[in-house]
Amino acid sequence: MKPAIINVSLTKKLNNLSYPIFVGNNLLSNSEKIIKPFVQNRKVILIHDNFFSLEKKNNHDFVNFVKIIQHLSETVNFIGIPGGDKTKNISQLNFILEKSLSFKISRDSLIIAFGGGVIGDIAGFAASILLRGLDYIQIPTTLLSQVDSSVGGKTGINSSEGKNLIGSFHQPIAVIADINMLKTLSKREFLAGMVEIIKYGLIKDVNFFNYLEKNYQEILNYDQSMLKNIICMSCNIKSDIIEKDEKENGERALLNLGHTFGHAIESYGKYDGTIVHGEAVSVGICLAFKLSNIMGFCSQVETIRVINLLKNLKLPTSLNDINISITTAKMLDKFRYDKKNKNNQLTFILNEGIGKSFIKSNMDISVLTKFLDEEI
Ligand SMILES: NC(=O)c1ccc[n+]([C@@H]2O[C@H](COP(=O)([O-])OP(=O)(O)OC[C@H]3O[C@@H](n4cnc5c(N)ncnc54)[C@H](O)[C@@H]3O)[C@@H](O)[C@H]2O)c1
Repeated sequence: MKPAIINVSLTKKLNNLSYPIFVGNNLLSNSEKIIKPFVQNRKVILIHDNFFSLEKKNNHDFVNFVKIIQHLSETVNFIGIPGGDKTKNISQLNFILEKSLSFKISRDSLIIAFGGGVIGDIAGFAASILLRGLDYIQIPTTLLSQVDSSVGGKTGINSSEGKNLIGSFHQPIAVIADINMLKTLSKREFLAGMVEIIKYGLIKDVNFFNYLEKNYQEILNYDQSMLKNIICMSCNIKSDIIEKDEKENGERALLNLGHTFGHAIESYGKYDGTIVHGEAVSVGICLAFKLSNIMGFCSQVETIRVINLLKNLKLPTSLNDINISITTAKMLDKFRYDKKNKNNQLTFILNEGIGKSFIKSNMDISVLTKFLDEEI
């Protein structure tokens, strides 16, 4: 299967920046041609999820990829860190920064982030501040990171006050999404990635949602061409939005559908793996649709269709499903740190039906309080 190449082109004030997203099967074991222009004769810091190592027998693609970059680059230094949101913290960031500097890096050194969204976010953030900014490549290895976090340049870590509150915008120079990497992914993590894919249909493309509704069983059976198709569709929708609004001054906020509720739920779980990001967003999307419904923006039929697709995928659709109890007051408190808020007013992403999200600013607190009192 030939790789698909999606080009993300961002027009910045000072320089034009564009980068390719390669999507395909067996890309990493055969990555010489793709990776050569980016790594040739550079010092590489490979920041990888500890799930991958040269010693383990179950990750040929990682081993083959390392051999290729060792052959092409000046040197390769390794930094292994655990996956999972607990890793996205200031002390792990400090560890990465100090360790990278100990390798005597220079401005033309290259960081490669090899892992899921957690590795991509923290490694990308480190790349953005080391020596005031190094190039980095994203090699996303979870479904969620292939369709979402590796594209768009949002990098960062969590704070005890909330999710992703410390970070920067720093675009990668390339993204390589190898579908083969998904073979070792747990069903739970695969499903978490499906949530972000469904999100794209809900935000912007009703036909994509219909396609997912019709074909979810084949997708769950890892149908290779369907997987490639839905990863490409997702990256296309995301890059379209980012090209217009890199720094989230407008339309990019739509990508946050379900995330205002989701982030509040996640920070309640203390990032200990009780609930993973995609699951929190799944519950968040259901709450956003229910809220859209009671505020008169979206029909009940469409709300039920969304909830049913997530249920069919065995994803949580309510707080009851994930055994987290949060009071209305505590939930409201978490919303106050949402980065979409302006002038102390809460902002939500709501829907006027499937395929049409919109930004609702100045959210009426009494409506929200009544909704939460009834829902959670
Ligand atoms: N930057 C963005 O725009 C953006 C967008 C969406 C989500 N995110 C962030 O992404 C994170 C979630 O990403 P994630 O779900 O990939 O989390 P993750 O990186 O923690 O990966 C999930 C789990 O899968 C394991 N894993 C990774 N690749 C594997 C593979 N190929 N086979 C088997 N196991 C593998 C990891 O070790 C981990 O246990 C959250 O922190 C979220 O905030 C960022």
